[in-house]
Order: sequence, then structure tokens, then C-alpha cells
Amino acid sequence: MNTKESDLSSILNHNHRHPRYLIAILQEIQSREGYLSNEAMLEVAKFLDMSSATVWGVATFYNQFRFTPPGKRPVRVCLGTACHLAGGQLVLEAVARELKIEVGGITEDHEFDLDRVACIGCCALAPVVTIGQDVFPKMTPPKVEEVMVELNPPSAHKD
Ligand code: FES
Repeated sequence: MNTKESDLSSILNHNHRHPRYLIAILQEIQSREGYLSNEAMLEVAKFLDMSSATVWGVATFYNQFRFTPPGKRPVRVCLGTACHLAGGQLVLEAVARELKIEVGGITEDHEFDLDRVACIGCCALAPVVTIGQDVFPKMTPPKVEEVMVELNPPSAHKD
């Protein structure tokens, strides 16, 4: 049994075998693994005696879950109310453009992945982007370009 399998077993073994615990189990797996793999969802379905289609349907209904492994430097664009009102959506589109990935995607080199998040608690700095542990305040599409050129994502390599 490899580490991932034993992590998954330990998550399943301390949870109740009842469909009402599905979301809690999925949240715990994602918090440990960073995402929900196909294999993990199949195991959860087996454990809860549910069809894999139902587990998949529930997981994809909530946008808190991701289905690809996270990048080394996760990029999170806040779309909480303050950030949204301050232009967060345009910032998100600019980041997606620079990284050449969609929300929920990951760059080919697995360096960056992109997701939106709800309020991260620094609304005075809206709109906010986090990259790994770093917080980038008062972002605009031009600032996104500057930051991305410095971080050197694949799209920033100019020939
Ligand atoms: S809404 Fe973005 S930090 Fe609060």
C-alpha cells in the first residue's frame, strides 16, 4: 500500500459509512492531497456504497473541488464581494491569459495552477491575488502582466 492509498484509507476509516458524509470526506481528501483524483473518488464511492457517477456529480456541483493536481505555485484570484467589485473578474481573466490556462487548469510545466477563491480576509487590498504564500494587493490587468513577467510563467518566454 503506498502513502496515498494509506492516507485515503485513514480518511475513510475514521469517517462514517453514510452518504451524508460524502462532502466532508471529499473535503478532507482535497485538503490532504490538494485535489480529488479519479481513483480517490472511486474508492469513496465504494466506501459509501454509492455509484461513482453520483460521487462525481456531487463533487463537480461544488466549485470548491479541483480534479487536477495543484501546481507548485498555486495562483488564487479572490472573487469575494470587495474584490469582485474592484475588478477581480478582469484580474482573473488577465491571469488566465498570462498563464494560458483556464480556471481550474495547470500550466504544462506544473508550476502554476489557477483558481478563484472567496474572500481571503484582506478586502482593503482588493482586488487580491495570491501566488503561493505571496499576496499581491490592488491588482489590475497591467499589474498582472508585470508580476507574471517577473515570475516567468511559460507564456512570458518571448522569442
Ligand atoms: S473579498 Fe477579496 S479579500 Fe475580501
